[in-house]
Amino acid sequence: MSPSFELDPQPAIRVTMMPADTNAHGTIFGGKILSLIDQAGAIAAHRIGVGRVVTVAMRECVFKHPVRVGDIVSCYADVLKVGKTSITVCVRVVAHRPTDVKRSVEVTKAEAIYVHIDEAGRPIPIAEGEEV
Ligand SMILES: CC(C)(COP(=O)(O)OP(=O)(O)OC[C@H]1O[C@@H](n2cnc3c(N)ncnc32)[C@H](O)[C@@H]1OP(=O)(O)O)[C@@H](O)C(=O)NCCC(=O)NCCS
Repeated sequence: MSPSFELDPQPAIRVTMMPADTNAHGTIFGGKILSLIDQAGAIAAHRIGVGRVVTVAMRECVFKHPVRVGDIVSCYADVLKVGKTSITVCVRVVAHRPTDVKRSVEVTKAEAIYVHIDEAGRPIPIAEGEEV
């Protein structure tokens, strides 16, 4: 099948970071951002019309800047590749600092790979026509 490689200008997820999301140093816990990446990637995978997916892999995720309480975090997710049973999504995470409207930083970028599965959890082919 030939997936759409058009970039989505809208974030798959946008959320304000709260005190409950912090690590021991008071900045945002990396696992929180990984969770958002996973969710955003899955949303992008569903946009091609595939119903049930699980995450099989997440490729290198380097945190370049801290995320702070009150930051508005946007996850931009674009499908890079559709394989036989898998969908590869690039997720870019941007933190908008509300105290400075001109300041947005790219916190990290990662590739997440999802597999289309049946009810028993076995990989199944992504059928022609599942693309939106
Ligand atoms: C995902 C899962 C169903 C895949 O089962 P599997 O028998 O290993 O599947 P396969 O080896 O046939 O691979 C399926 C697809 O995933 C891709 N894949 C598998 N491992 C991969 C990896 N490490 N990196 C990238 N892609 C991978 C394969 O290339 C294949 O893609 P394609 O069909 O488009 O060519 C199985 O590993 C699983 O259930 N994992 C747990 C998923 C989960 O619970 N995730 C939540 C986190 S706990």
